[in-house]
Amino acid sequence: MKITIIGSGYVGLTTGVCLSHLGHHVVCVDNDVEKIRLLKKGISPIYEPGLEELLKQGMEKGTLSFTDSIEEGTKHGLAIFICVGTPPREDGGADLSSIELVATRIAETMDEYKLIIEKSTVPVQTGLKLKTTIELNNKRGIEFDVASNPEFLREGSAIKDFLYPDRIVIGVENERAEKLMREIYEKIDAPFIVTNIQSAEIIKHASNSFLAMKISYINAVSMVCEKAGADVKEVALGMGLDHRIGKEFLNAGIGFGGFCFPKDLKAFIKISEDLGYHMNLLKEVLKINQEIREYFINKVRDLLWNIKGKKIAILGLSFKPNTDDIREAPSIYIIKHLLKEDAYISVYDPAAMKKMKRIFPDIDYKENPYDTLVDANALLILTEWEEFRNLDLERVKNLMKTPIIVDGRNIFEPEEMERLGFIYRGIGRA
Ligand SMILES: NC(=O)c1ccc[n+]([C@@H]2O[C@H](COP(=O)([O-])OP(=O)(O)OC[C@H]3O[C@@H](n4cnc5c(N)ncnc54)[C@H](O)[C@@H]3O)[C@@H](O)[C@H]2O)c1
Repeated sequence: MKITIIGSGYVGLTTGVCLSHLGHHVVCVDNDVEKIRLLKKGISPIYEPGLEELLKQGMEKGTLSFTDSIEEGTKHGLAIFICVGTPPREDGGADLSSIELVATRIAETMDEYKLIIEKSTVPVQTGLKLKTTIELNNKRGIEFDVASNPEFLREGSAIKDFLYPDRIVIGVENERAEKLMREIYEKIDAPFIVTNIQSAEIIKHASNSFLAMKISYINAVSMVCEKAGADVKEVALGMGLDHRIGKEFLNAGIGFGGFCFPKDLKAFIKISEDLGYHMNLLKEVLKINQEIREYFINKVRDLLWNIKGKKIAILGLSFKPNTDDIREAPSIYIIKHLLKEDAYISVYDPAAMKKMKRIFPDIDYKENPYDTLVDANALLILTEWEEFRNLDLERVKNLMKTPIIVDGRNIFEPEEMERLGFIYRGIGRA
């Protein structure tokens, strides 16, 4: 099928590359001309395992191309996926202005039937607004359908998640749209859930909020564990083996970040409020996420006494491993606080340093973990990259001025660390 993707970021580019891999003819559009320039050269502007290989394959096969023109994109695709960003507004609601803009341009330029699919995460009832916007600007009365197809991929495993999803959710209004959606995904073997558009939209917000709630739940439990002499890792294991609970998203740590959870939670709270229900449960989830970061900084303060003038090594900047994404990463909040207290900060991250340099140009970026540690008063682990689990801990200890580790991701075992001579604090571990 001829498919167009508008918005070629983490979601749009992955969708485009994977759909071309599945045999569709895909054009990806973005208004960021620099991004399109790189993509046309076969270079992925984002770090995502396996993405660049599939990108090059698609371009070589001739089933994947790029443009900065929505008009060109609209002409190409029978199905048009809208994958632009939906960032938070001041009031917590989602800023849907890019969706409106793109929908207007599609309506003005389409000259034959189109299926227009919202893949960006949007508040419930956005589909209705999308349809109205297209109707209003569709002066020539061209036929079209609107569908919702929320995306559940995770950065860091986006390709795998897209090609082997737990489920595909589509919200449609008629059989024509359903048939086309089934055709797009026919090569993917996964449960196919067909709902109305509003249900599909809520499935996405409710799923992300639920996962964030699991993280805040275990983080709240971790604070009790620590005070009570329990180990949250053991508690999470004992809980998670219950199938009704499940063991995923029960890793205590410095909380969730990224482009999705914080903004989707806020947007779900806001839309629920607009619709007349106060989601206090989710407000508490956000509050705990903030508390756990402060709790972590207090641990550093407890161990270092005065932060002023101390050298602090930080390993991990991205909001989670295997991505260069630092949006809403706990590391930003933590670094800001440490700088406010006049710490000297030295950092390493396998993928996210380039992006972090734009926020903190003046901290010390190192090429490998060990270089951050020379004469450090403390090491903070903020992202659980696999590389950090395999550190030569004897070398770590010898490089540091004082062997203090505050591990925001519980990647090491406290007993083992103490045996090795470290003063080690994890999260929720007595
Ligand atoms: N990142 C994730 O893991 C993830 C997962 C599931 C869903 N989502 C949702 O998908 C949507 C996109 O997220 P993302 O992470 O890919 O964002 P992103 O910022 O990486 O990508 C959005 C892209 O849209 C482009 N864009 C913005 N306005 C445009 C316009 N008018 N015309 C053309 N292009 C335009 C931007 O230049 C950017 O490249 C969001 O709603 C997000 O919540 C994201």
